[in-house]
Amino acid sequence: MDELKGRVAVVTGGGGGIGAALAEAFAARGVRLVLADLQLDAAEAVAARLRAGGADAIAACTDVTSRDDVEALAVDTVRRFGAVHIVCNNAGVATFGEIATSTHADWEFTMRVNFWGVVHGVEAFVPRLLAQGQGGHVVNTASMAGLVGMQWLGIYCASKFAVVGLTEALHRELKPHGIGASVLCPMIVATNINENSVTRRPAELRNPGEPLVPPAAAMVGSTIAPEEVARRVVRGIERKDLYILTHPEQRDILKRRWTRQDQMFEPGAW
Ligand SMILES: NC(=O)c1ccc[n+]([C@@H]2O[C@H](COP(=O)([O-])OP(=O)(O)OC[C@H]3O[C@@H](n4cnc5c(N)ncnc54)[C@H](O)[C@@H]3O)[C@@H](O)[C@H]2O)c1
Repeated sequence: MDELKGRVAVVTGGGGGIGAALAEAFAARGVRLVLADLQLDAAEAVAARLRAGGADAIAACTDVTSRDDVEALAVDTVRRFGAVHIVCNNAGVATFGEIATSTHADWEFTMRVNFWGVVHGVEAFVPRLLAQGQGGHVVNTASMAGLVGMQWLGIYCASKFAVVGLTEALHRELKPHGIGASVLCPMIVATNINENSVTRRPAELRNPGEPLVPPAAAMVGSTIAPEEVARRVVRGIERKDLYILTHPEQRDILKRRWTRQDQMFEPGAW
């Protein structure tokens, strides 16, 4: 018996990229789906494709920066499917630039989507998962930029470090209730995030100086397909892993960070 079959998943940012691939992977396992996105037409296109393949999938127009929108998403999901089990707080945007020359609007825009979007998902869904008493899983999409500070990605790093921290705490808190929590930390994935992050940015938070294509220094490493990320997320849910890592080169980068910290305990440095 497949434990995922018949479960209900909500995926924010489900209209494209990693979110759409997550939805495909869940649908292949018989999971029922709500694809929530700012771009309803994109989410509806993904849902229609999944329905054509026999899945039970619907789209929802949700702006994760709005607490009311995300609460309505939770209410509507439970009304439609009777329960919710897997919550992927995945919608996110990328901003690039040095901290010194970034605008306040860069901070507002990035934190509203990447940080508050995840907080709203946690606020709306975690109490429902607990009240249901049917187990479940929360997957928060952070990034490798949530585990290592990177030049040109300072604001993005701040937003994603916050997601890693809150998910580490959530993992500990939900474990006794049989509910999993994972933080997804990929490096580069082949999606339209750069273009989407510029073209879909609210007019009042625009930074005319922001590059459409990130500086090469901000994007070092291999690029993988969203389908590969989705495969690892499904496996991470099944194993109740806290960290979902996706790129082999992450290992050395994380080791270097840990070594720098560890060296600070050497007698000469202490
Ligand atoms: N692509 C990468 O290289 C990469 C690497 C690490 C982490 N991530 C993270 O993965 C997640 C998904 O990114 P992606 O690469 O699939 O990008 P994407 O742009 O292809 O997909 C993101 C989706 O989120 C939606 N979205 C944006 N703002 C929203 C909002 N306020 N409310 C609801 N939906 C919104 C967009 O419309 C889009 O459909 C993000 O959190 C991103 O930070 C991406």
